Amino acid sequence: MTDPRDALSRHTDYGAERLEEAGIAADPVVQFEAWLVEAADRDVYEPNAMVLGTIGEDGVPSSRTVLLRGVDDTGFVFYTDQSSRKGRALAAHPIATLLFPWYSLHRQVIVTGEVAPVDDAESDAYWYSRPHGSRVAGTASEQSRPIGSRVDLEERVAQLEQQYPEGSDVPRPERWGGFRVRPFRVEFWQGRTSRLHDRLVFFRTPGADEPWSLERLQP
Ligand SMILES: Cc1cc2nc3c(=O)[nH]c(=O)nc-3n(C[C@H](O)[C@H](O)[C@H](O)COP(=O)(O)O)c2cc1C
Repeated sequence: MTDPRDALSRHTDYGAERLEEAGIAADPVVQFEAWLVEAADRDVYEPNAMVLGTIGEDGVPSSRTVLLRGVDDTGFVFYTDQSSRKGRALAAHPIATLLFPWYSLHRQVIVTGEVAPVDDAESDAYWYSRPHGSRVAGTASEQSRPIGSRVDLEERVAQLEQQYPEGSDVPRPERWGGFRVRPFRVEFWQGRTSRLHDRLVFFRTPGADEPWSLERLQP
């Protein structure tokens, strides 16, 4: 392919799999886990990668990919630099969307929820499970802040590697930690033939610990 317009005019008819009220779990986290396992088993690249959408202090939306590192009844957890652009956005507007783009399965899940930082013990547990190099990088990089050059960053890393040689503990910077997204809306999308896709949405009142409702949306 040499003409970028060829990529724009492709038309893929999505597969024969379906998502029906009778077959979906009663709890969206259970359904999500089932699809996540399937995504991993069916070789989706980075199945736990999700696009995190936030609202900035100025009301401007932004998005970026992060990795899901925990999911259970309490919510969806990812780790980052809490002083980053996304961290500042979440401090101003503690609400976010998480989009799992499982294109090769003709599937998408979109989670919307309220966000809160995870506690220090949980951030510590994940920080100390990371490889030494990742901890050095997380300490060296004040994520999302400008830096003069790549060399400046590499110099910081070299200094930290002297201070904390392989095998020693690199302490978790206070600015580094997790966020938990507690969902109040979870949409499961299954691509179907001729664009007659299945969309099933779980929803409940934000902040309330009430049972989930389910509805089908037009594609
Ligand atoms: C596949 C993939 C996984 C990523 N995982 C993370 C992650 O778990 N945490 C993180 O802070 N950034 C992660 N990033 C980098 C972010 O997309 C982003 O560049 C960074 O967090 C800064 O975003 P911000 O300036 O909007 O805060 C990942 C990027 C990709 C492409």
